Amino acid sequence: MRALILVGGYGTRLRPLTLSRPKPLVEFANKPMLFHQIEALVKINVRQVILAVSYRAETMEQELKEKADKLGVELIFSHESTPLGTAGPLALAKDILVSTSDQPFFVLNSDIICDYPFKELLEFHKHHGKEGTIVVTKVEEPSKYGVVSYKENGEIKEFIEKPIEFVSNKINAGIYILNTSVLKRIELRPMSIEKEIFPHMAKEGELYAMELQGYWMDVGQPKDFLTGMCMYLNNLRLKKPEKLSSHVNVEGNVLIDPTAKIGNNCRIGPNVTVGPGVVIHDGCCIKRTTILKNAVIKEHSWLDRCIIGWKSIVGRWVRMENTTVLGEDVIVKDELYINGGQVLPHKSITDSVIEPQIIM
Ligand code: GDD
Ligand code: MG
Repeated sequence: MRALILVGGYGTRLRPLTLSRPKPLVEFANKPMLFHQIEALVKINVRQVILAVSYRAETMEQELKEKADKLGVELIFSHESTPLGTAGPLALAKDILVSTSDQPFFVLNSDIICDYPFKELLEFHKHHGKEGTIVVTKVEEPSKYGVVSYKENGEIKEFIEKPIEFVSNKINAGIYILNTSVLKRIELRPMSIEKEIFPHMAKEGELYAMELQGYWMDVGQPKDFLTGMCMYLNNLRLKKPEKLSSHVNVEGNVLIDPTAKIGNNCRIGPNVTVGPGVVIHDGCCIKRTTILKNAVIKEHSWLDRCIIGWKSIVGRWVRMENTTVLGEDVIVKDELYINGGQVLPHKSITDSVIEPQIIM
């Protein structure tokens, strides 16, 4: 079987991280977002994954090819010279999607995290026999998403992308399975699958919804990234607790790369991921935070709700909170307070940041 992952888009909402790496390669729980998806696809025997890319493809190609070889999956890069939206990329990859077989294919948004239900999705899709099935989930704030209403058997009555007025709290989770016949509906131009394809399919009774079990999050912005991390770690506790750290200084669900170093008298957790090569010095207290590869946290610093970019250095006695995001290679001097700062790569911070702001 095949899958197409939509990995274009500029990832502006995940800045400053996406100024250094394309969004799908930003590590979520110590693994690039895209690998979580590719690994799950490989498990159900998907052997060809098409990556629809429109931006910074070179960085991605090198890193991903190596990983794909290990997993035994073929990666095909489908390059857009101008961004084609969420449907156009399917038209561009049409020849690959229809070659050799007429099997349905999976389509994924690259920034969503859950227990990917590919096997159930395939079974459900075959069972109802219509053109497409989308995975749906329930959220508190549906207006940020594609909203759907559907009958008890799953048949979608209406699909509205980012509605202004409340329609339902069931939303498009960004995972689809589509028959190749759907490609007839799509043109090779910038086109939105959510606005120009799904509403029509729904009207014709050709689009079904399958409800997702368990957690789900679009981790394409910092606050949601951290919420998604908590959900992911919680799920790990239930399904694979051996992966979580049992270090003496750890509290709750914490993931620590084996190459990271944790000092004495720290309190790490709950809900922290510590990447490879990270050094956390003595006496630090860190909660609900992601620390990316090779970052350093010096003595007695206190972090809550932060994402610390690659190779960044946080000084001693620093306090950072309220969705503070440090880009790559940022230095925060000793004793500072940072409240909701979004710090661009390669900056050195010498004064406290009292109010949430972007620091350029
Ligand atoms: N190749 C390519 N080209 N990919 C693109 C392009 C493009 O021009 N534009 C966006 N993408 C990719 C993004 O990288 C992402 O993986 C996916 O398409 C969806 O784009 P987002 O920008 O993340 O959309 P969203 O989060 O506002 O809304 C979408 O996801 C929600 C679930 O998280 C929609 O599909 C909603 O209906 C859905 O509820
Ligand atoms: Mg998104």
